[in-house]
Formats: sequence, C-alpha cells, structure tokens
Amino acid sequence: MMHNVKLAEGVYSVGAVDWTMRSFHGYATPRGITYNAYLIVDEKVCLIDTVKAPFTKELLERISQIIDPAQIDYIVCNHTEPDHSSALPAIMEKAPHAKVVLTAQGKESIIKHYQQEYDFQIVKEGDVLDLGRNKLHFLTMSMLHWPDSMASYLEGEEILFSNDAFGQHICTSKRFDDENEISEIMDEAAKYYANILMPYTRLISKAVSKTGTVPLKMIAPSHGVIWRKHITDILAKYEQWGSGYRDDSIVIVYDSMWGATEDMARRILEGVSASGVTVKLHRLTTSSLSDIMKDILEAGGVIVGSSTQNNEVLATMGGFLTYLKGLRPANKIGAAFGAYGWAGGAQKNIEEFLKVSGIAVEPSDLSFKWVADKDGQERCFKFGLEFAKKVQGNIK
Ligand code: FEO
Repeated sequence: MMHNVKLAEGVYSVGAVDWTMRSFHGYATPRGITYNAYLIVDEKVCLIDTVKAPFTKELLERISQIIDPAQIDYIVCNHTEPDHSSALPAIMEKAPHAKVVLTAQGKESIIKHYQQEYDFQIVKEGDVLDLGRNKLHFLTMSMLHWPDSMASYLEGEEILFSNDAFGQHICTSKRFDDENEISEIMDEAAKYYANILMPYTRLISKAVSKTGTVPLKMIAPSHGVIWRKHITDILAKYEQWGSGYRDDSIVIVYDSMWGATEDMARRILEGVSASGVTVKLHRLTTSSLSDIMKDILEAGGVIVGSSTQNNEVLATMGGFLTYLKGLRPANKIGAAFGAYGWAGGAQKNIEEFLKVSGIAVEPSDLSFKWVADKDGQERCFKFGLEFAKKVQGNIK
C-alpha cells in the first residue's frame, strides 16, 4: 500500500522519492531527489511525466491504487530527460492506448532515447488538451532545462505542472511547501537554480512571466515539494535570479598544495571581512561544486586561487573552472591569486577562465613564489579590502 497525496479533486501525486540518491549527474544532493509525477483523473485520464526507470514499479503501484494504468489516455512528457522519461517505455506497456503528448523536440528525444515510436501528439505554446471537466494548457519552457521542456497548466484547479522549473532536490515525507521548513526549501530551490538553470538566466524572466498570465493555486514541479503557500516568494526569486541580481557578498574559492595559497585565501578573506561585506570561503577538497555555485548565485564577487602545478592550476581547480564556465554566472567581478614554486601559471590560467565565464576580471598582483612573506600577506589583506569596495561600487 502506498500513500498517494491528493492535490485537488482528481489530481494526485504519484511519483517517487529517492531518499538515498546523493548525485544528480554530479550535482551533490545530500537531501536526496524526488521524481514527481502527477495523475489527473477526469473524463480522460492523464499522467503528467513519469519517473526514473528504477522507480517504475513504485509509480505503477501508486497509479494502480487510483485507476487501472490501462485506462490512461494521455501521458504528458513535459521534459524528456531520463529522470522524468525513462519509465515511459514500461508505462506504455501497461497503457498501450495512451497518446504521448510532448513538444516536437520532445518527440525527437524520446525516439532517440528509447528507439520506440508511440502514438505521439505534438503540442506547442497555447495548445489545449480537453480532459472533460478540466482543460490542460501547454506553455513552452525551452531550455528550462532542455530544448524540449514545457509546462502544463490545469485550468479549473489552477495548477501549474512546471517540471524542472521551481524544483528543488530535497526528499520530505510532507509534499507541500507549507508542511516543511521553508528556509530549507528556498535554500534548495536556490541551489537547484544555480546548478541547473543558471546558464539560461536570460530566458527565465520570459518563462516566469507566462505564469503571471494565469491564476495559480499550486506550482507542482517535477522535483521537491509542491508550492501552494509560497508561490509569490518562489516566483519573485526566479524573477530576481533571472534578472541577474547580485548583492555585495563575495565568495572565495581555492585549493592549495602545501598551504601557501590557503594562507593567501584566509588573508584575502580577512581583508574582505574588514570591509563589512559578507564573505564565504570554500576549499575545493571539502566543498561540493553545487554548494559553491549556490553561494555564487547571489554574490557580486568571486575570488579564485590555486597553487601552480606543472604550469597549470590544480586538477580540482580545473574541474571547478570548467563547471563555472558552463554555468556562466551573470554580473560578477572576479580576481585570481595563488602561490607557485619555480614557475607560475595558475593565476593567468584562472583569469582566462573567469573572462570566458563572463566574469569581469579585476587585476591582482597576488602571485607569490613559494609563500607570501609579510609584505605579501599585507597585500592579500589590502586586496580583499579594495576588492570588496569595488564589488559594492559595482552593484550601485
Ligand atoms: Fe529533472 Fe532536466 O531533468
């Protein structure tokens, strides 16, 4: 027996909660992951998304407690990434008469992923699916998170099935926002945005503005809790992140071979702290990339340091810089530092990466042979102090 959560008359949450999963293609998920799917039982029966394949049995069991899966008329694939679609082939075996409703890009993706031709119904922006008592409207959400992404809006019950948008990687036994500690949920929503949606920031406002055109009682994403009390708050946050908002906080990210670069990081931090600006320090061997990116999301400045190894940055730093470059944080200023032995290279390497990541680089003279001496230590402190002022000036 499974506990199915009811959202509204004839609308149920039937997805899976993956309590022990600790990584979403590299995104650290210490609170697990959910693969939300929703069942609408109307004159027509409609399943909104499926789950990750290992949870197919759980999905079927939840559906079977409500209706026979063979009664499903439509399966809406809001997004074809395998965390939402890899149970589709197995579900189609149980629901052979179901139409698969998705965008044109979604159809291409499903055929490529599963080598199957289904009874596809292609939809585009503004299309409507009549379920009987209620109608389902489709809103394209291209690049939130893939080109195929869309959202489905249930008129009447006023529920937006938003798929990845507004999601959070957190497992809870209570499925609504107001049944949980909201600061934890918002924290995970920020981390999700930073690590999944940040590269598409310029598209977010347009997508979010579509939600403003319809009344909303709930936003039911494909990950995490369902928003019903804090809808205005999460929409405001997406508007803010989508506008490239940043405050005057600063994040220092570093890795260090023998401690010299670490000493510099701590002295730069002291200088920033002396300015009164909030600063966070991450060492790449002890912080996850996803936690670092969450802090960078709203930061105005990023200071990055690495020891030089074989004329390059440390391997951990190479991974971080590649990740940062892909996520392209908007409206930041940055700087680089690091210690070296007989030949430098790390600082220049970091600066180049910051530039191609879209970060405005503030020149620094913080590249020291072996270790920073007393004068070098003071320069680190002063640089932190001055950099904080530049960040404050940049946000005015
Ligand atoms: Fe939750 Fe882009 O998949």
